[in-house]
Amino acid sequence: GHYDTGGYEHYLLKEISEQPDTVGRTLRGRIDDRFHIAHLGGLNMDARESRSFRRVKIIGCGSAYYSGQIGAQLIEELARIPADAEPASEFRYRSPVVEADTLYIAISQSGETYDTLAAVQELKRKGGRVLGIVNTVGSAIARECDGGVYLHAGPEVSVASTKAFTSTSAAFALLALHLGRVRDLSPADGRRICDGLRRLPDQIKEMLTQEEHIRELAMRYAKDAAGMMFVGRVRGYPVAREGAQKLKEISYVHAEAYPASELKHGPLALIGPEMPTVAIVPDDELLDKNLTTLGEIRARSGRILMVGHRTTDQADDCIVVPKNETELDPILLTIPLQLFAYHAAVALGRDVDKPRNLAKSVTVE
Ligand code: AGP
Repeated sequence: GHYDTGGYEHYLLKEISEQPDTVGRTLRGRIDDRFHIAHLGGLNMDARESRSFRRVKIIGCGSAYYSGQIGAQLIEELARIPADAEPASEFRYRSPVVEADTLYIAISQSGETYDTLAAVQELKRKGGRVLGIVNTVGSAIARECDGGVYLHAGPEVSVASTKAFTSTSAAFALLALHLGRVRDLSPADGRRICDGLRRLPDQIKEMLTQEEHIRELAMRYAKDAAGMMFVGRVRGYPVAREGAQKLKEISYVHAEAYPASELKHGPLALIGPEMPTVAIVPDDELLDKNLTTLGEIRARSGRILMVGHRTTDQADDCIVVPKNETELDPILLTIPLQLFAYHAAVALGRDVDKPRNLAKSVTVE
């Protein structure tokens, strides 16, 4: 039926493997190849209103928050609107200033996370315009928002979020394309993003063929590690955070995520042979800076697994991910980290789909 593992050993592996299809479903019918725009009817917002926002604030919890960080970068890059993401719980407790020219966006797979729901309710009370990027149709958060984008990723059963994360990021790319094309984004850049989005499902499929290589790396790097460091810069940073979150959540191996540039301001003291690093190093304008960081880690005898678009002598091992448009690369860079965490958890004999102490949706404060 609808809710079985479909021949996979765990729901998590099923949900990771489904992503060519689930990302495809998020995109389906929403890319306009004639005008290089996105069709998002559920926003309930005309072009004039779409042009009116001067800021975007994104809220969510856990992985939803990290995908919101990817979303904020997409919106800043493509629509040139200042955007940032914040944990929904922090946002609601700090009594935020609610502004009429800010677009608020709530992220939730379940649509039932209490902190996110309460933040949306507080925003609405104060007159905020709130969109939802939600997977579960008709859920509490979806009903509370003024409009939004449904992921259409299908039910996510495993506690660790995977397909909802990539679909949320894809939905943000559509939203950023929409907001960009009613502002300053050129038709040529619009086309570049539309074409990039269309390539995503096949590239995810291609990435998944490296599962055996990644399983072997998980055995070598994570299984016996005292802890792991995940680093990235700008587009790579939310990917590093999500990678560390996945590893902690399902394998119980301690992991920290840092912006690569922050290492020398403290956490470099942790680096040594017993603390390997996963470095997210896309081929973007920060490549050289990232390779310099790898050199600094090596100088402290830290082992490095690089996830990027090329191999390099600066790392001990590399996972080469298919290259898309720079803005869309974070989506593909996330996939190997999901497989890495999954195989680390299996190797350690963990309860992969139901990790200890966690619930699929946190409906309490
Ligand atoms: C993700 O792997 C976690 N289980 C968790 O961080 C989750 O993303 C968070 O609780 C938010 O859930 P939601 O998307 O259903 O609101």
